[in-house]
Amino acid sequence: MTLQELSAQVAADFEKHYGRPPRWIVAAPGRVNVIGEHTDYNDGFVLPMAIERYALMAADTASAPGKISVYDTHFKESASIDITAPVTKGQPKWSNYIRGVLAGFQNRGQQIPALDVAFKSTVPLGGGLSSSAALEVCTATLMEAATGKAIDPVEKALLAQKAEHDFAGVPCGIMDQFISALGQKGQLLLLDCRTRKTQLVPMSDPSVALLVVNTNVKHELGSGEYAKRRAECEQAAKIIGVASLRDATADQLDQAKSKMPEVVYRRARHVIGEIERTTLAAEGIRQSNWPTVGQLMYASHYALRDDYEVSCKELDIVVQIAEDIGYKGGVYGCRMTGGGFGGCCVALVKADAVDAITKKIAADYRAKAGIDAAIFSSRPAAGATIIKG
Ligand code: GLA
Repeated sequence: MTLQELSAQVAADFEKHYGRPPRWIVAAPGRVNVIGEHTDYNDGFVLPMAIERYALMAADTASAPGKISVYDTHFKESASIDITAPVTKGQPKWSNYIRGVLAGFQNRGQQIPALDVAFKSTVPLGGGLSSSAALEVCTATLMEAATGKAIDPVEKALLAQKAEHDFAGVPCGIMDQFISALGQKGQLLLLDCRTRKTQLVPMSDPSVALLVVNTNVKHELGSGEYAKRRAECEQAAKIIGVASLRDATADQLDQAKSKMPEVVYRRARHVIGEIERTTLAAEGIRQSNWPTVGQLMYASHYALRDDYEVSCKELDIVVQIAEDIGYKGGVYGCRMTGGGFGGCCVALVKADAVDAITKKIAADYRAKAGIDAAIFSSRPAAGATIIKG
């Protein structure tokens, strides 16, 4: 569904629920990370793109003062958020992403307007495509629309990231919120997570496409393991004697190998290799050198599977199927994307083979994993926008 169609739907949902049309409509996309996994909190590079899957909000000034009501059109339940005092965590659980962003605006000294809101999302929930970052950035964009005060997109992304840290308890890096706020149509974003400088990398060659393969599994150990990986990376950097793994070379790591637990060594080996792979892949994409980009994606997957240990059986099955289809069948490369432990893979494929590859992956994944995958392709989408108001 196009953004226009989705926007008409959320407007209709708003009108049905609140009995009047909305004054504002905003949207923020989910993302798929092409390469650069678990590098953002190591001050490294990431190369995500915004996808044509969105969190949307339609809103109007509230009929009752002092609160923001958010109606979730999917779960058909409402959250009522008191804005007369500092916004705190509360129920339902999903409202915490919104609450966190509202608290961020309050901390900036901004007055939060009382609003009636309808919310809709086409970013698969918990699928590793940043449904939470899309919701956070969408909320921040609604605040911009409703207050008439735009904020710098980098500040907006940081505010959304803080919401995830403080209200959802996930010590995430900056990638997801950045791409949702700063994505540009037709472009990947090469983000230097240390300097926060971004470079656009055009992804406009019509001969290739990116396929997102959702394994439709999510293993619960995810968030605890994420924090553990972060700590192991910090430990490795400390032992090597650098501020972060961004500053370490493979040689330095090898010299320090005997001073660190084997598992910490492998974590660092992934991160150092992945930072290099990410800049090489950006170069490869600029040159439309698809075989090279594809090889870098496979290498990323193996390191995430073997050294970083954040893959899972289902993700590995998808990558294996992609490898079996191979270059001759139109697949350049494939890897898990996002935090791991379930969620999605991203595959770089020949555009004219998309249909055949989709069918083959769907059939083989069902046969091997016993689960139906959800597969779609997306062009790089624009970041958060105010559609109306
Ligand atoms: C999650 C986090 C990101 C990033 C990825 C792994 O998506 O939110 O900040 O660390 O995992 O690359």
